[in-house]
Amino acid sequence: MKLTIGCDHGGRRLKDAIVKHLREKDIEVVDIGTYTDESVDFPSYAEEVASQVVSGQSELGILCCGTGIGMSIAANKVDGIRAAVVSDAFSARATREHNNSNILCLGERVVGEGLALLLVDTWLEASFAGDRHKRRLDKITELERK
Ligand code: RB5
Repeated sequence: MKLTIGCDHGGRRLKDAIVKHLREKDIEVVDIGTYTDESVDFPSYAEEVASQVVSGQSELGILCCGTGIGMSIAANKVDGIRAAVVSDAFSARATREHNNSNILCLGERVVGEGLALLLVDTWLEASFAGDRHKRRLDKITELERK
């Protein structure tokens, strides 16, 4: 599986920890930055990760900022993106099973590194349950077309 990850300055340390964790598990990761503590605008990174996911260059994406919220708001503006910000394992699993989320958003100022890595693993190990959830996702796709 190939995954693209991005962050702003508020999520850079968490992003680096996730990249290391995933590479140790032999998951192919495209790291689009940011790479320093210099202040940057999170929507630019959300847009790049989202476009790599909708184009199929990567199957899934991860975005980190201070809260995860700004990244999720921005990424969800891109048609075809279902970005979910989570801070508990139940939601991390449910958002794959029910929402077929294709981008996971995490807040470095909200979750510690240990919890964040558990959330990433839980999200990656879960899979879409289909059935009635597919009908609901189809309705979200219809909303994008309106
Ligand atoms: C940056 O200070 C911060 O606003 C950003 O990382 C994020 O939390 C926005 O939602």
